[in-house]
Amino acid sequence: MEYSTELESTINDMVQKGRGILAADESAPTIAKRFDAISVQSTEESRRSWRDLLITTPGLGEYISGIILFEETLTQNTDAGKTIQEAAWAQKIVPGIKVDKGTIPLALSPGDLITQGLDGLAERLRDYKQQGARFAKWREVYNIDKHTPTKHGIEANAEMLARYAAVCQAEGIVPIVEPEVLMDGDHDIVHHAEVTEAVQHAVFDALHRHHVTLELMILKPNMVLPGKDCRRAEPDEVAEATLKILRRTVPVAVPSINFLSGGQGPEEATANLNALNQQAPDAPWKLSISYGRALQQTALQAWQGKTENISAAQQALLKRARLNHSAMFGGYKMAMENS
Ligand code: 13P
Repeated sequence: MEYSTELESTINDMVQKGRGILAADESAPTIAKRFDAISVQSTEESRRSWRDLLITTPGLGEYISGIILFEETLTQNTDAGKTIQEAAWAQKIVPGIKVDKGTIPLALSPGDLITQGLDGLAERLRDYKQQGARFAKWREVYNIDKHTPTKHGIEANAEMLARYAAVCQAEGIVPIVEPEVLMDGDHDIVHHAEVTEAVQHAVFDALHRHHVTLELMILKPNMVLPGKDCRRAEPDEVAEATLKILRRTVPVAVPSINFLSGGQGPEEATANLNALNQQAPDAPWKLSISYGRALQQTALQAWQGKTENISAAQQALLKRARLNHSAMFGGYKMAMENS
């Protein structure tokens, strides 16, 4: 493959034991919702300040190896006058970019969703690359309901992920492949596992069909959990169910599995990651994170949009990153939350 050396070096920069990815790529409506919770208005400047705060957190690079940015952020600067990408590199954090354009209903398939954004993707990737992005992210979403996701929906979504990943690799950009089976609903953990297995199976089948090199991509899946309206499962149960499905579906060629947090609380997401690494210390893939909410939530609460709170917010982010780092070695304990 033409770009394989470039892709390999990006993978090497991103995949390291004890380091994870920070997802800071919320679209405008999503970040507005997050800011709303702390009564901060979402403007170009407030979004810039927030992401400046995140990426300039002293010491963050020790635990974080990649940051997923939103398109707007690529053109923004820190208070110190660097681009956000330069600030990321200063901490040895690889900058990447969310390239999908969100979901719409899948036509003629009631309840299924499909993600848009393939048209012109290669050209956009070339621009993003010039702006410093070295990897990309694309998310497909599967909602569990009585009849969904359908088999057809699962296949259509897998096809999109594989086409996206192939375009990325052809352009020298490492693809993060994100199929997210949502935890919304009252389904039990067994059903969530069945759907996740079918989804992962279809995704890897499609990646193979589209000639995607598995060694040069990162998988960003959901953990296997009971629905939010069902019950809360203990970390050991989540880890066991998740590992069972991943062992059945994810080839060992994939270097790293970086979970999304998907509505788990910050402590819950860390405890579950810890159990995963405790149960599978010799897993063939790294078991790491690509958390958005579970890394940012406590920092957002500390920030409240105020300059005088920047340092406290950065400390809150660093703490969550450090605790997740411990969880990547199976060394996280609840008591560490109070230290
Ligand atoms: P959460 O960890 O908040 O689910 O976000 C991760 C992400 O990037 C979803 O696409």
